[in-house]
Amino acid sequence: MTMKLLLSEKKIQQRVGALARQISKDFSGRELLMVGVLKGAFVFLADLARKMKVPVKIDFVRLASYGSGTCSSGKIRFTKDLEVPLKGKDVLIVEDIIDTGVTLKYLYRCLRARRPRSLIVVTLLDKPRRRKVPFQADYTGFHIPDHFVVGYGLDCAEEYRNLGGIYIVK
Ligand code: PRP
Repeated sequence: MTMKLLLSEKKIQQRVGALARQISKDFSGRELLMVGVLKGAFVFLADLARKMKVPVKIDFVRLASYGSGTCSSGKIRFTKDLEVPLKGKDVLIVEDIIDTGVTLKYLYRCLRARRPRSLIVVTLLDKPRRRKVPFQADYTGFHIPDHFVVGYGLDCAEEYRNLGGIYIVK
């Protein structure tokens, strides 16, 4: 297995800073509930939250797809739900990567039904060529080609989540 650097730690940190500034500007004077999608988003959420200029609260969800093998079957369920109600809140879903779009489409619909004041999505990475269902994040860090990537929260069999950069695995 070989690993090739795709996004350096410095480049990621600069982009996360820019996303935090943009989101903070767009939500100036409001408070955001940041909802991290476990596990992959934990690093991105930690960095983004510390760069935000508006007050934030933090919660997490964990979702699992079930059905056939490793491919998204389109069937998703919560294995960990939010611990706070969303009604009337400004909610920011924080995701590490959008691939087929199945996870976020499901999550967005579920959270929307809980009547937040607003519901927006930030993803660090987007692989638009892999999309099976249409889904567009409000804020995107990087559009990347269709390679398997690890680091900065993303894993390969639970390894490499702690790397500062993002690498293509071959
Ligand atoms: C990854 C990623 C997203 C989802 C995106 O999670 O963190 O949540 O897949 O894929 P999709 O757009 O095809 O639905 P994964 O299931 O690998 O879990 P993990 O974050 O715990 O590693």
